[in-house]
Amino acid sequence: MAQPIKVVVTGAAGQIAYSLIYHIAHGDVFGADQPVILHLLDIPFMMGVLEGVVMEIQDLALPLVRGVVPTADVSVGFNDVDAAFMVGAMPRKQGMERKDLLSANVKIFKDQGQALDKYAKKSVLVVVVGNPANTNAYICSKYAPSIPKSSFSAMTHLDQNRAQALLAQRLGVPVGNVSNVIIWGNHSPTMLPDATHAQVQTDAGLVPVPKLVNNDSWLKNEFVPTVQNRGAAVIAARKMSSAMSAAKAAGDHMRALWQGTPPGKFVSLGVISDGSYGAPKDVMFSFPCTVKDRVWKIVPNLSIDDFAKSKLAVTGKELSEEKEEALSVCQD
Ligand code: NAI
Repeated sequence: MAQPIKVVVTGAAGQIAYSLIYHIAHGDVFGADQPVILHLLDIPFMMGVLEGVVMEIQDLALPLVRGVVPTADVSVGFNDVDAAFMVGAMPRKQGMERKDLLSANVKIFKDQGQALDKYAKKSVLVVVVGNPANTNAYICSKYAPSIPKSSFSAMTHLDQNRAQALLAQRLGVPVGNVSNVIIWGNHSPTMLPDATHAQVQTDAGLVPVPKLVNNDSWLKNEFVPTVQNRGAAVIAARKMSSAMSAAKAAGDHMRALWQGTPPGKFVSLGVISDGSYGAPKDVMFSFPCTVKDRVWKIVPNLSIDDFAKSKLAVTGKELSEEKEEALSVCQD
């Protein structure tokens, strides 16, 4: 069996972590043969709660767990880690948009970027979940200059899962039969969920989703806003932000990075933009990607229509503005 890897989860006493830790400990993310040492980082005030989480991890009796390190000290939490789930942040409350969170959360990611730079392995893979995820990932990477920018990504996989599930429901097919839905841009209501290149596995082979849905108006006017606003809908119903589905998506995202994407399939990752598809350069923009040997690549040469182009411009502009705001907050 492989040597254990060290995996840090920040915000480890919070809601998302409560579900995410199980996925990691059970082997759903790094593989059924990959033991893990869990580093659980939260703030000093939450150490009592974290103690309870540690007890529950013990009580899971999962054989892949080779150690648990609860801590409020970043030099311990990030020490020598191979993978990092950056979840810890202030969650969005009902009526709050992600912009309201920016100034509070971006500073956390500056500090933790510096800590990753100092203490983590240089090969660490960092997935940012805490909102505003794309801009936090940008700041985290900026303050960790000794780690490649390509090792940082922001999670839009929850949006991808939501889009995939909505299409499966519309078509009356199992969710696993739908693939290659794309989330473009920011993890915010400006994102573009795009079914243009999505496929459905049928008895007759792979069929394009637009052909099966056969209703352009539904795809533009219902599918897109339903996915864009799903996070707010969950908060309105649950009075808390989506945690179970966010945890599953964080595991899906890291699994794609760690284990690669299957042939012909792609995954949406918020990664440093090279200007592909007209996106602004040097922001963390969600693109369709393939992953091999832990290296992601933006899928090239997909056709995008005028509707998509106009939406990509809006979400790109938002990301550029968020980046400027975040940089000015970090200089204060
Ligand atoms: P939560 O409030 O239950 O947990 C957050 C945890 O982070 C708390 O235990 C808190 O003490 C901890 N924390 C705060 N500052 C910290 C710091 N400096 N270092 C370490 N830990 C710290 O929130 P929940 O529901 O787990 O959500 C976490 C984040 O994930 C929020 O920002 C939320 O908006 C975001 N989110 C992102 C999604 C995405 O699709 N990218 C989806 C859903 C939530």
